[in-house]
Amino acid sequence: MFDSIIKNGVIVTGSDTYRADIGIQSGKIAAIGDNLTVDNAEIIDAGGKYVFPGGIDVHTHLDMPFGGTVSKDDFATGTVAAACGGTTTVIDFCIQPKGKSLKESLDIWHSKADGKAVIDYGFHVAITDMTDAVLAEMKEVISSGYPSFKLFMTYDGLRVEDDVLLKALLQVREYSGLICVHAENYFVLKYLVNKFLSEGKIEPIYHALSRPALAEGEATGRAIKLAQIADAPLYIVHLTCNAALQEVVRARDMGSKIMAETCPQYLLLSEDNYREPDFQGAKYVMSPPLRPRENQEPLWYGLAHNQLQTVATDHCPFDFKGQKDMGRESFAKIPNGAPGIEARMALLFDRGVNSGKITLNRFVEITSTNPAKIFGLYPSKGSIVAGADADLVIFDPKLKKTISKTILHENVDYTSYEGFKVTGYPVLTMSKGKVIAKDGNFVGQKGAGQFLKRKNLMII
Ligand code: URP
Ligand code: ZN
Ligand code: ZN
Repeated sequence: MFDSIIKNGVIVTGSDTYRADIGIQSGKIAAIGDNLTVDNAEIIDAGGKYVFPGGIDVHTHLDMPFGGTVSKDDFATGTVAAACGGTTTVIDFCIQPKGKSLKESLDIWHSKADGKAVIDYGFHVAITDMTDAVLAEMKEVISSGYPSFKLFMTYDGLRVEDDVLLKALLQVREYSGLICVHAENYFVLKYLVNKFLSEGKIEPIYHALSRPALAEGEATGRAIKLAQIADAPLYIVHLTCNAALQEVVRARDMGSKIMAETCPQYLLLSEDNYREPDFQGAKYVMSPPLRPRENQEPLWYGLAHNQLQTVATDHCPFDFKGQKDMGRESFAKIPNGAPGIEARMALLFDRGVNSGKITLNRFVEITSTNPAKIFGLYPSKGSIVAGADADLVIFDPKLKKTISKTILHENVDYTSYEGFKVTGYPVLTMSKGKVIAKDGNFVGQKGAGQFLKRKNLMII
């Protein structure tokens, strides 16, 4: 009755930690109990290890045209890296090309992913060209399984004005969708970028100095107020700093339906990285930028106390050689984005759980359960219950690794976490009952990942 049984592991969910076996049949969790046995089932021993629901990364940019180039991981290489790092689902951003309908945009993203992804995936739709037709189309897009949208408040060519954000918020309120927002004040950034460049200040550090934390705080507060006017839920992506966090805290205290995500880079790296010599600071050019270190403790506190609900990666990799170096003469020409899809679980476990900043159950909540709830995948993803997809990770809490380009599968020529030592690493990843990564190697199948239609988003 079981195809396989994971035995002797300690199951960890967002709420519980207990020892039990997991029986798996036809890609689903069929039973959880003591001493499960059955003839002919494959036995997977998880003695001395944790069993987590597979990680869910709700913020990736695979095969994305951006900043005059294309992000380096496609849906094959990016999802292999995700799988090896303990992530079994990604939600990637389909970016609407100007003039195209949302349906046409999604067709483009499906052709990038279908037949390539090795783990399950969904799409948010980034609306860059809001017309009356696109506004009307949102209803059908939501009911077709794409209920979340991203709107950019900055970036030339992508950004939308406040009235467009408001209209989109009203639309998702009506049809039970969710707006995700990239919150930075466009005009402040534009002024400072031009000022620094006119003064000949071209180095990577000026990327950070031209995008101050208060400009993110201001835009976050503005987006929240628009959501409050619309009485709509709102999800802040890649929140980096205390200024933005306090806007979220205030709104949540008032009972507003505001949720927010941060990323490992904002918890572990800092503005100092932009000062690395020989243009190495370009590796960390992303938006919003890395912040002064004093922002990190408030973010950890926010994660521990449900002021922040998720940790995603914003994985948007560009090679140092050939892509990042497009900006040697101007920080404004460095493609924005950095890799991170593979090391998320290990970094969060080591720097979060091992250091006592978050509990083991909270680690599972912010990396898997909450993303599943917010984005309409729960309980088939993000949980360990009978009937759920057997997307599972066996994690060795004692395994020591040094994060390095050489052990990662990301298709990019560096990692921002080179030399970071961690204790705790995934040793086996299972997607719908099939082992797809083992001991640092990918053993799954290209194209085995399936598109996930999402619905029933939860506000948490
Ligand atoms: O620098 C970043 N974050 N690149 C990806 C696009 C975005 O804004 O998320
Ligand atoms: Zn963004
Ligand atoms: Zn992003």
